[in-house]
Amino acid sequence: MTSQLTEIDHVAIAVNDIDAAIAWYESVFGAVVVHREVVESDGVDEALIRVADSYIQLLTPTRDDSPVAKYLAKNGEGLHHVAYRVDNCAATLEAVKASGARVIDQTPRPGSRGTIVAFVHPKASFGTLIELVEETR
Ligand code: CO
Repeated sequence: MTSQLTEIDHVAIAVNDIDAAIAWYESVFGAVVVHREVVESDGVDEALIRVADSYIQLLTPTRDDSPVAKYLAKNGEGLHHVAYRVDNCAATLEAVKASGARVIDQTPRPGSRGTIVAFVHPKASFGTLIELVEETR
């Protein structure tokens, strides 16, 4: 059986001050932000820092009812989710559901950068919020 998880797409870190976090990554590691996007549907402002073929995704909420705002209030800053690249988000999501695991998204939906994404509930995946990412370009 071939793994449906083809690469790490990104590791997401929730932060209170995204500009401070970007400045830190830039000054300490010489890291480069290659994409910045506000995803209104998720209530987040994100910055992607390229690391080889993957990204570090710095995430901060844009409103108080954003899931990331709730996460920060409960857990503080830190690792928020791990995103795996898949060839077919819908097919992999179906495999997750067929295993009986709880999912956050019943069907794939648009993510940032024109991707198609779906989240798996951390209760189903040993404590890690998992995002499945299908690139469309
Ligand atoms: Co993500």
